[in-house]
Amino acid sequence: MTRANILVLDEGTTSTRAMLFDGEGALHGVAQEELEQFYPASGRVEHDAAEIWNKTLRCAQAMVEKAGGAAQVAAIGITNQRETVVAWDKTTGEPLTRAIVWQDRRTADACAKLKEGGQEDMVRSRTGLLLDPYFSGTKMRWLLENDDAVRAAADAGTLAMGTVESWLVWKLTSGARFISDASNASRTLLYNLEQGEWDEDLLDLFGVPRAVLPDIVDCAGELAETDSALFGNAIPICGMAGDQQAATIGQGCLSPGDTKATYGTGAFILANTGSTVPTSDNRLLSTVLYQLDGERHYAVEGAVFVAGSLIKYLRDTLGLIDDAGETEALARSITDSGGVVIVPALSGLGAPHWRPDARASITGLGFDTGRAHIARAALEAMSHQTHDLALAFAADGAHWTGLKVDGGMSANDWMAQDIADVLGLPVTRPDFVETTALGAAMLAAVGCGMHADLQAAANAMIGSTRTFRPNMNADTRDERVARWEAAIAKV
Ligand code: G3P
Repeated sequence: MTRANILVLDEGTTSTRAMLFDGEGALHGVAQEELEQFYPASGRVEHDAAEIWNKTLRCAQAMVEKAGGAAQVAAIGITNQRETVVAWDKTTGEPLTRAIVWQDRRTADACAKLKEGGQEDMVRSRTGLLLDPYFSGTKMRWLLENDDAVRAAADAGTLAMGTVESWLVWKLTSGARFISDASNASRTLLYNLEQGEWDEDLLDLFGVPRAVLPDIVDCAGELAETDSALFGNAIPICGMAGDQQAATIGQGCLSPGDTKATYGTGAFILANTGSTVPTSDNRLLSTVLYQLDGERHYAVEGAVFVAGSLIKYLRDTLGLIDDAGETEALARSITDSGGVVIVPALSGLGAPHWRPDARASITGLGFDTGRAHIARAALEAMSHQTHDLALAFAADGAHWTGLKVDGGMSANDWMAQDIADVLGLPVTRPDFVETTALGAAMLAAVGCGMHADLQAAANAMIGSTRTFRPNMNADTRDERVARWEAAIAKV
């Protein structure tokens, strides 16, 4: 192995991973650890930021060793679950409280009040986001108002608050760098999309002092350097992006109109809109795709909160399956779901419905319903959530001609085919479905000069694909869509 190694830290919602790539995009090693999910009350989801750091470091050290030492690693790329808020003390470098995860709904009332106060249009026009508890701003405010340790640190001037990439860079640099990249910053409700900076009016509205927030930087370049004590030698951190933006890059969606859907814990569909800030009349989000040399590229996004987490729920909470892969054989073992429909609103509904109060439902049960029907309905729900977004994008004038899919769940061939069938469009899946990590590797490769730009990185690093073509008769499709629409109207 050569110095051409890129180490990617992919910090997701349910696990953290370190992955070793070369400059051609080949994967040479993975170390992964699961993260504990804390559900302290209804609608609340928390992480232990110390656990995130300790496990990330352990995985990273294993991969640096595999590469033959820090001297063999050209750069680190970081990609992360977005919107999750970590609060820590700048003097101790330790978390002050549990991190509030993006799925957490505790600020639904605060969002409703701001909406009632007529703030949504202003927030929307500046941030591209909506007033929903999904985003970081109201989570930060909640911590400042409700957590004694956070408030005390704010009073003492030692509080730092950021999303997960800020936390990891702080720890990797032993507190030398307090930064967030533009793609992650654009998920906070505090960031002005046009200006590319924290917005004073929004900081006031959400009650978050500028002093507790990181500086905003590009997604690629010499962004920071690790403390040499961690890996034996310093390694430059050269790429940083939110996981969905990284997946968009890893799918090679580099031209306006290119669209991808990632099926991970949630499902996130992003369409590149180039250097124009997009606007949506159909409750889609506008977000920074990446920033290079101070220039921002944007995307329009449909965020669906529950995808793989539904399968995890069927496995871990209901005990209906032993492993996620089983759902494919179960779905194939029957000809239809027997009328069963699952609306997976386990943490409310995201785009395009935006209903934080919605609760999940399983309808259409009979004595003949078995676990195969439930498993099939769970996979079918992914196609319908995607179809709802296809309609919203189309209503905004963005008619898809095909969809690029990726993420762990997309490895399920039955699901990929069903998405093609329900959309009535070809669905293309890369043979290497971990495009989030690949996108972070591409950014780091550009940031350290291994490739001249993202297009050159895409040419060198993105591999082959497989296409699933629609093959469902129109009546079946229409029936499925009608049943879904009836079920979703009731939650
Ligand atoms: O916005 C939340 C998103 O970043 C979570 O990603 O990969 O955990 O589904 P994932």
